[in-house]
Amino acid sequence: MATSHITPSFKFEIPAIDDQHQQLIDLITRLEQGVNGFLPNMFGVLEDLQKYVREHFTFEEEVLRKHNYPDFDEHKHEHEVFEAYIKHMARRIELGKAELRLDVLKFLKLWLTRHIQGTDRKYAEWFKQQGIAIVESPNGDTP
Ligand SMILES: [Fe+2]
Ligand SMILES: [Fe+2]
Repeated sequence: MATSHITPSFKFEIPAIDDQHQQLIDLITRLEQGVNGFLPNMFGVLEDLQKYVREHFTFEEEVLRKHNYPDFDEHKHEHEVFEAYIKHMARRIELGKAELRLDVLKFLKLWLTRHIQGTDRKYAEWFKQQGIAIVESPNGDTP
């Protein structure tokens, strides 16, 4: 399966976060393949995407809150807007009121890449400036 690997401008040298971003991009890429007729279980993947978005946002928000990140509210708000959009879109598709189209997926990918390169990068830089290393794993353990 072809995947689109995230480019260096996406990488923060924070393995837990970089891996999660890659997973999100991979899930959207799989949905794009689905729209092109190469994926049998599109609804399952759409559900996985919603779950994984929630997991990733929760992880980031927990880390940011724990370290008193100054732009926490603004960051969380961006997450909320994106999640509400995906939820609304998935619901309409589930009810047969809309189809999963390539332009919708392109929008999701664009939003995500902008968020990673802009809003997420800001916290990654702030953490570096503060000398804080994010070493938590997604399940909350500190290795
Ligand atoms: Fe992120
Ligand atoms: Fe984020």
